[in-house]
Amino acid sequence: MTRTGASRPHPAASPPPGVSPLPSSGPFRRLRSALSLSGLGLWLSVPALTAMAATLTRDDDAAAQAQAVGAVLALMLLPAVLLAPLGGMLAARVDRRLMLLIADVLRLVLLATVPLVGTLPWTMAAAFLVAFLGLLWTPAARASLPALAADEDRRARAHRSATRVVFGPAPVAALLFAVLALIADGTLGRGSRADLALYVTAAVFLASGAVVAAIRDIPASVPIHVESPLKLLFQGPGTGAVRGLGLAVTAASLASCAVVAVARVHTGELGGGDAGYGTVLAGLALGVGSGLFLGPRVLVPFSRRRLLGLAVLAAAVTLVVLALVQNLVVVVFATGLLGVFAGAAWTTGSTVLNDPDGLADSDSPDDSRPSAYLRSVAVVTAVVVFAVVPLIAGAVGSHRIDLGGGVYDVTGTGAALLIAAVAALLAGAVAYKRLDDRRGIPLLPDLRAALHGEVYTPPEQAAAAAAAAQPVHRGQRGVFVAFEGGEGAGKTTQARLAAIWLRDHGYDVVTTQEPGATKIGMRLRAMLLDRDTTGLSVRAETLLYAADRADHIANVIKPAMERGAIVVSDRYVDSSLAYQGFGRQQRVEDIARVNAWATGGLVPDLTVLLEIPPRAGLDRLSAPADRIESESADFHERVRAGFRALAEADPDRYLILDASRPQAELSREIQYRIREILPDPVPAGTEDVTSTFPVITDL
Ligand code: TMP
Repeated sequence: MTRTGASRPHPAASPPPGVSPLPSSGPFRRLRSALSLSGLGLWLSVPALTAMAATLTRDDDAAAQAQAVGAVLALMLLPAVLLAPLGGMLAARVDRRLMLLIADVLRLVLLATVPLVGTLPWTMAAAFLVAFLGLLWTPAARASLPALAADEDRRARAHRSATRVVFGPAPVAALLFAVLALIADGTLGRGSRADLALYVTAAVFLASGAVVAAIRDIPASVPIHVESPLKLLFQGPGTGAVRGLGLAVTAASLASCAVVAVARVHTGELGGGDAGYGTVLAGLALGVGSGLFLGPRVLVPFSRRRLLGLAVLAAAVTLVVLALVQNLVVVVFATGLLGVFAGAAWTTGSTVLNDPDGLADSDSPDDSRPSAYLRSVAVVTAVVVFAVVPLIAGAVGSHRIDLGGGVYDVTGTGAALLIAAVAALLAGAVAYKRLDDRRGIPLLPDLRAALHGEVYTPPEQAAAAAAAAQPVHRGQRGVFVAFEGGEGAGKTTQARLAAIWLRDHGYDVVTTQEPGATKIGMRLRAMLLDRDTTGLSVRAETLLYAADRADHIANVIKPAMERGAIVVSDRYVDSSLAYQGFGRQQRVEDIARVNAWATGGLVPDLTVLLEIPPRAGLDRLSAPADRIESESADFHERVRAGFRALAEADPDRYLILDASRPQAELSREIQYRIREILPDPVPAGTEDVTSTFPVITDL
């Protein structure tokens, strides 16, 4: 499905500027009309023939009805599995126009005789034959349509247009069937057979034949070469990537076909009758169409392989809901939703297939092989599901379970759907595992980032990127020590203790803090932390912290460093990386770049990270929480993980300490580490810091 065609009623009516229009009259238009009529007939014949099979079975025997419907569905797909190459061969030998005409007339006759004969075996035979004729008709007409277009560009669009007009009528046909069922109920009485729908389907094929007859010459075009699905399956997927895709396709096909297999009986049990059946099928068709459209457009930054796995799993979970909830309205909507997931899985699967990396390990010289293989997987799964799921439904049968508080009716169809759902879940889970190209990256943050239009980067990678984005520029003469950590980690106390210790040993020490070390900074701090500041955008917040920092450097840090002092700062750039980057889920690399500019690339000689679980840290605070402190627990957890990742990415510059340890121990370790970066020899008598340094425990 393409963007251009989706919103226009007639693809040739108003081509975008610069695009040559498809012919709007003559044989091209006629053949396309025939294709859409034949498509309508094809889709209408499915509910019509299955409903007929159900009404020809005993009314009170749900199992027999389900099996009759399943058999018709399987028979309608069987020609595609067994006779596809024969169809292609015949289409190549016989005059195209004549073949289309004969196929239309035969389909008309077969469908009209079904209600007249009124037996189950004939309904089944007709289903098989109508499907076989469709196998001759549809690929032949689809291949001929592009041959009636003038040039290569138009031929490509004609090809897509042919696909649209064949598949587009599916929801229309299902709704039409529902309407016809209502009309038949009203005129012929409740429980009437699907006669009316079958006659209308026959009439649609008559119309298709009439349109074909009006075309003088239909070009045979390229030979139609169709591989046998069974042969393709037997040859196998070829590569691991295609095998993963095959599993995903199996799960999606299993989930959607299981619904179709029991839909007639299931809706009957819920009091919906044939009209309900048509509505459920219309829901599914509309859902699939929407899924095909949405697949490439949602969560664009998200891995397509992950999306495929998730779509399949979501379809399977929806099937669980369908199996358990016995309400017609819920069934219609859940079926539609399942269709959305299945449709999205299908297009996402083709995106993965066409992605050069997706088949990097391919040794197949023929690009179309994997997609033919996947189509075979889908169709063979469908046949098996149509045949087996109703059998399971029949074998389980209906039971009434007394749950103490109330009774629960277990239906055979519900149980069969549940079993199918479990199988789809298993296949989906294995497919997800096999396809996952972001192993080790947690799913939820990945999804959350994609919802914000971004690609999630795990903390370690983000920290490494941030380190790379900061040009390292140490202070020329002085020493710069920063203290970092989450709320209530004790940075302020430890920074002061370190400063006192340094001063005691004769150093010129400047203690400072962020935000708010300068006059402007104090005003910025008030804005940033005031809980009345609402609606501050993340970028503005980042820039305000960076502005405070730039002012701080210019007026406090740089002058102190230039005169050779030791600067001890309570917070610095890492706070922005952790809070605005990790906490606010912005690209940490971008925050690093903004700050590299704001600071002129000044990086501390040592950063002491005091590590504490956010809950414990926040509990230590006595004042009412400010704007940042009152952020969610998740936010503070991300900040903590961010700090850790930053420290682990550059272990030489960091001292990581467990802030829950006794204050005196922490001070001693900090002093020991600071001693290593002091420019002048350590004052005499303090070499053995662990034993002789005065440890200040209280200020
Ligand atoms: P403080 O209360 O520890 O002085 O820190 C002020 C608050 O500002 C604290 O919650 C952390 C936050 N903050 C940032 O979000 N980004 C920054 O760049 C800095 C320096 C602090």
